[in-house]
Parts: sequence; C-alpha cells; structure tokens
Amino acid sequence: MSDFDFKAYLKERQAVVNKQLETILNSLDKERELTRAMAHSLMAGGKRLRPILCLAACEACGQDPVVALPAASALEMVHTYSLIHDDLPAMDDDDLRRGIPTCHKAFSEATAILAGDGLLTHAFQVLTRPGNLFERLPDPAVRLELTAILSEAAGVDGMIEGQMLDMLSQDRDAAALPSSLDHLEKIHTLKTGMMIKASVLSGAVSAGAGPDTQERLAVYAEKVGLAFQVKDDILDVEGDPAVMGKPAGSDEAKNKMTYPALMGLEPSKGYAEELVNEAVEALNNFDEKALPLRAIAEYILQRRR
Ligand code: IPE
Ligand code: IPE
Ligand code: MG
Ligand code: MG
Ligand code: MG
Repeated sequence: MSDFDFKAYLKERQAVVNKQLETILNSLDKERELTRAMAHSLMAGGKRLRPILCLAACEACGQDPVVALPAASALEMVHTYSLIHDDLPAMDDDDLRRGIPTCHKAFSEATAILAGDGLLTHAFQVLTRPGNLFERLPDPAVRLELTAILSEAAGVDGMIEGQMLDMLSQDRDAAALPSSLDHLEKIHTLKTGMMIKASVLSGAVSAGAGPDTQERLAVYAEKVGLAFQVKDDILDVEGDPAVMGKPAGSDEAKNKMTYPALMGLEPSKGYAEELVNEAVEALNNFDEKALPLRAIAEYILQRRR
C-alpha cells in the first residue's frame, strides 16, 4: 500500500462522516436537552471506524461511497448509543469517553439513558424515512435490508447479547466459566464483531454487491472485528488514556474476561496480528479499490486510540 496515504484518507473520511452527522443533528431542535446530550456524545470525535469501513466496503465493490452514507450514519449513531450505555454506572462505570466526560457525567444518568435510546431509535428513522438528509439514497428495498442488518447486529443476537455476556463474566473466576477462550471469543464476536461485520456488509449491500462478494467481505469483517476488540483489550492494559480519550485499567478493575487476562499480553498481540493477516488475505481477489479496507485492517493493529 506504498503510495496510499492512509492518514489523509482517514481524515478526509472522518470529515465526510462528521458533516453528515451534523446534518442529521441539525434536523433536530438543538436547544432540547435530549438533542444536546445526543450531540455531546455523537460529535465528541470518535474515530468513525464503523462508518468508514462501510464507505470503504462500498468503494471496494466499485460504487461511489456517497450511496453508503445513510447506512454509515445509522451505524455510528447506534455505536455511539452503545458507548453511552456501556459507560453508565450500572455497566462499566467510566467517566471519560472520546476525550470528554461521559454522557452521564456531563448530563445526568437518566439523560444519558435517554440520549442513548434517542440515538438508537433515530438511527432507524434515518434509514427508513430519510427525507432530504442525504445526497443519494439506496432504493427502499436496499434500505430495508440495511435496517435488517443493523437491527440484527445491534440486537438480542448481536451486540446486546455480547454486552450481557460481558457483564455476566465480570467479577467471576474466569476458569469457572465455560471453556474460557471459546467463551471470550463469543463475547467479543457478539459485542463488537457483529457491528463491525454489519458495517462492512452494509457498505457492500449499499453498493448492490452480489452474494459472493458479500461472503468474501464477511470473512474480512469477522477477522477485523475480533482483532479490533482484542486490540481494545490490549489498549486497556497498556494504552495512554490521554491518547485514547478513555480510561485505561477499566477491565482489570472489574476483573473482566479479556484476551490479555486469559492469554497474556504478548500472545494477545500475536493473536491480533494473526487475525489481521487473515483479514487482508480474504481480500485477495479484490483490486486496488480495496486498498482502504486493507489499510484499515493494518491500522486496527497499530492504533493507539
Ligand atoms: C470502542 O469503540 C468500543 C468498542 C467496541 C471496543 P471505538 O474504539 O471504535 O470508539 P470510538 O468510536 O473511536 O470512540
Ligand atoms: C464495548 O466494549 C463494547 C460495546 C458494545 C460498547 P468495552 O467496554 O471494552 O469498550 P470500551 O473499552 O469501554 O470502549
Ligand atoms: Mg463494556
Ligand atoms: Mg467499556
Ligand atoms: Mg475496552
């Protein structure tokens, strides 16, 4: 990926996503407490990895990524809701997110719960009744499929179940849980992997990709999704909170089941690298339009936030 400037690409794509999210927020009354709390977390400067994966997958399938912006926006809204709820006192109880106080710290616990609910629900409104929020729209049948992909990934057989299992794994003797590493892979695949896979598939579906292409992209996405959460666990051990914009040591404090806790730090790094190599291999049959997807996989390994 010699002359591909990934840093510039990331910056440009973050700007595109941010502009679209601003447009969505601007269509709501900005003075309302609910909207202010939603905007606090949504516009706090996340990496925008999921929407960018969505746009990059659309591009890899040979289409203009602008058609994937409805799905990309909905994905980031649902992701941000999951972070607001993940940080609540009843869950991970964290005070810092995206470099600023968590939603419940900046507002109140009740407001944070409702802001999360608001982002989740509005994501589906944006997909199904988009009005004139977007420059281009996929056909209604495609948007119905995008709605199904997102609700499945975020729902009771996806992220929410992953969060449930994560909570159940807390403060327990890891050895006493069902065959630890397998169980941990299940948690990570559900709580993080499913939304990342949905991001890639939504880009492909927005592009009108056929089943073969979708299948190959799904392999890439499964590997990348798991690698992403393994790296997140690693950063929780050795990351710099100032760079990450969220606390380190949060997992250990709650005795969470994580890759470093179960396999050790160095083997976890090796595992993440292995997964990323497999992800890139899954893109073997794609042309240079998949360069961004390849670069994103590498970035997941190198990232410091
Ligand atoms: C954090 O996600 C939560 C996980 C699923 C690991 P990100 O690391 O993508 O957080 P933002 O969106 O950049 O803030
Ligand atoms: C979060 O996992 C997964 C979500 C669905 C939000 P973590 O709890 O490890 O995420 P961080 O480390 O707080 O960002
Ligand atoms: Mg958590
Ligand atoms: Mg957390
Ligand atoms: Mg974490």
